[in-house]
Amino acid sequence: MSNLLLKRCPKCNALVRVMSDCQCQCGFECCGEKMVDVLENATDAAFEKHIPNFEREDGKLVVTVNHVMEDEHYIEWIMLMSDDREETVHLAPQREAKVTFKDVEHGTLYAYCNKHGLWKREF
Ligand SMILES: [Fe+2]
Repeated sequence: MSNLLLKRCPKCNALVRVMSDCQCQCGFECCGEKMVDVLENATDAAFEKHIPNFEREDGKLVVTVNHVMEDEHYIEWIMLMSDDREETVHLAPQREAKVTFKDVEHGTLYAYCNKHGLWKREF
């Protein structure tokens, strides 16, 4: 299983997923600047309001994030990575930050807040 590598533009906040990172030093640019790595659980924000929580219900993994879902501040997506499987569910403001995944025993959960970045939990 590969790690999730995201890069963000410090000017316009564009977010890109890197499938295979640059092996030289040129990196990736946006708005004329180098994009920066998005680090997990690294933003100065409430851990408990961003970390993905999970419980098992009828063999399914129910993932929630205890975060507001307002127009200006919300969880944009939740991702599951497990073995060779990867699923991303995009969310929207005014919707519940809740996603259900089937048939998964272990893996990594990610949640992305539009203001506070990437949050990760292994399970
Ligand atoms: Fe947030």
